[in-house]
Amino acid sequence: MTYLPNETRYASMQYRRSGRSGLKLPAVSLGLWHNFGGVDTFSNSREMVLRAFDLGITHLDLANNYGPPPGSAEETFGQIIEKDLRPFRDELIISSKAGYTMWDGPYGDWGSRKYLVSSLDQSLKRMGLDYVDIFYHHRPDPETPLEETMQALDFIVRSGRALYVGISNYPAEKTREASKILKSLGTPCLIHQPKYSMFERWVEDGLLQTLQEEGIGCIAFSPLAQGLLTDKYLGGIPAGSRASKAHGFLRPAHLTEEKLTKVRKLNELAQSRGQTLAQMALAWVLRHEAMTSVLIGASKVQQIEDAVAALSRLDFSTEELQQIETTLR
Ligand SMILES: NC(=O)c1ccc[n+]([C@@H]2O[C@H](COP(=O)([O-])OP(=O)(O)OC[C@H]3O[C@@H](n4cnc5c(N)ncnc54)[C@H](OP(=O)(O)O)[C@@H]3O)[C@@H](O)[C@H]2O)c1
Repeated sequence: MTYLPNETRYASMQYRRSGRSGLKLPAVSLGLWHNFGGVDTFSNSREMVLRAFDLGITHLDLANNYGPPPGSAEETFGQIIEKDLRPFRDELIISSKAGYTMWDGPYGDWGSRKYLVSSLDQSLKRMGLDYVDIFYHHRPDPETPLEETMQALDFIVRSGRALYVGISNYPAEKTREASKILKSLGTPCLIHQPKYSMFERWVEDGLLQTLQEEGIGCIAFSPLAQGLLTDKYLGGIPAGSRASKAHGFLRPAHLTEEKLTKVRKLNELAQSRGQTLAQMALAWVLRHEAMTSVLIGASKVQQIEDAVAALSRLDFSTEELQQIETTLR
């Protein structure tokens, strides 16, 4: 059946400017790390991407290695593009990345120009695209000179393979250096993608401030701590959940009693605000003015709907924020 997007898709989504760039991103973006691979059900992956677009989620985030197997999330997405979204390419911001292990030998990992350019060429082929909107270096490389990696990103834009570039998992100081090099090359860094949630707060220790000073946007990944910051694990590990899957990155060992006690308290606070815990966890990340978007994952359409509904209650009282701090301590 021909896909026809919801005509009201832009009515309620909020769009936030990424740093001091011209690009706005939806406050909620969808990542294809889990549940879009070759091991997953195509019809469900497709339904989630299309529902996201119908809700105004114009930004979809991928990487070379998403799957499993690595590369298969880009292939799945390529099929959805081909089947449904090709006519809407100009309404979409599609990102990919390279930086983690992708193929054997010395050229399929880290941050060399050789790896970044050839990996992006492979990604474009898998997705059936001429260009991505944002291309990221996925993690800092301790050995490759930062100049080489940043020159590769600049080249990628100049050669038409990407419109903007970003970095992910870079600490504050390295972010500042990367930003300086990119500015000098004439390809400013659009966005940084760090892990950030109530359970993972390293960005508060300098990175957010650096991003604001440099005019770089911020898109927080795993804002729900892979599902831990929802009510789903309060009664054990449900079948089909990420923690139950052998290839899931959330392991049962991460579900400690200490964490679950906090989740229980946070869940009560969310209920008192008239929200699900997932919604409160997303609103909490979005409270920073430096935050452009929360990058969620999903295994079901309903989780995407739940996340977007968080946008109707983003404010926190000082008391609520204090209660969250006390719970997290
Ligand atoms: N740059 C990087 O290094 C990096 C690293 C990791 C991720 N990322 C990006 O960030 C994206 C999101 O990461 P993530 O998937 O870890 O994000 P997340 O939003 O923290 O976790 C998503 C998972 O939480 C569960 N969930 C979501 N909504 C729920 C709800 N309403 N109720 C109950 N459970 C709910 C689902 O798990 P179930 O499957 O159990 O239902 C879902 O798969 C990735 O897709 C990727 O694009 C980037």
